[in-house]
Amino acid sequence: MACRPPIVDLSDFDRRRSEIQKQLMDAAQGTGFFYISGHGIVQSLIDEAYGQADSFFQLPHDAKDRLPKVDWAACKVRGYELNNLTDGTLHESMMQAFDVHEDMEGAWPPESMLPDYRATTVAFMQAMHPVAQRILSCFATGLGFSPDFFEKMTDISSPENHTFLQYHKYPSTEGLKWKPGTNRITAHTDESLITLLHIGPGSMLSDGLLKSNYHRVRMPLPGEPQGDRYSMGYFVWPALHDKLQGKSGKTSATTMAEYMKQKGKIFSYSFSPDIDTYEKSQQYAFGPPQIESAA
Ligand SMILES: [Fe+2]
Repeated sequence: MACRPPIVDLSDFDRRRSEIQKQLMDAAQGTGFFYISGHGIVQSLIDEAYGQADSFFQLPHDAKDRLPKVDWAACKVRGYELNNLTDGTLHESMMQAFDVHEDMEGAWPPESMLPDYRATTVAFMQAMHPVAQRILSCFATGLGFSPDFFEKMTDISSPENHTFLQYHKYPSTEGLKWKPGTNRITAHTDESLITLLHIGPGSMLSDGLLKSNYHRVRMPLPGEPQGDRYSMGYFVWPALHDKLQGKSGKTSATTMAEYMKQKGKIFSYSFSPDIDTYEKSQQYAFGPPQIESAA
């Protein structure tokens, strides 16, 4: 089922807060997706971040492959991932966290290759975070928590927090043939409290009230642009060991660290290089995708 998410304007936030909260809660209880406008991030910074992503993906494969690999189950979400057609998906991505973790030094591409990459990427993450905070404060009060409920659990100055930015490149499909069922990114739900994608919210703390819906990045259809495509996703995580439980207590309490131990196994399964296993992972781990997007 394809549908078009609503556009929520965040401008003049303090004065329009109750109106914005209603729009966000309606969207999150509906499709679980919404576009935002009036976010206040200057276009030049967005352009610079896309420029750095482009420069990164143009590095030789060996240079990218020397970077750490993401370990989802251990919540180490930084490093390079390549998913080629043999995985049943087609994209490459680079994930980067804030510089509060002890092992970040080797997680950035060398300055000698990309002199401004680290500074621009950190500046872009720092610009995205207050936008996420405004949205999360609306979800907090909409769910009956205090306005700063999520702010406390998403403190990006704490080593407990593994919020990350992911640069995606979906390579050109011109001239490619692929098996039916191949996607640029397979159907999944996000693990984050909220994802801001330059072009989705979690349900664990809302007792299922807010949707964390299935989505995927499909291959382009005939007549759509077949060239390279980029996107940037900012995934806001709660601190690893904060108790996660909805207001009503209907959902069992957990922590992000425990949750990712389980979800990390599903991620490994879905990125299996075997197409049959991939198809089973669609059937058993994810269910049918409900939203189609060429994000
Ligand atoms: Fe996603």
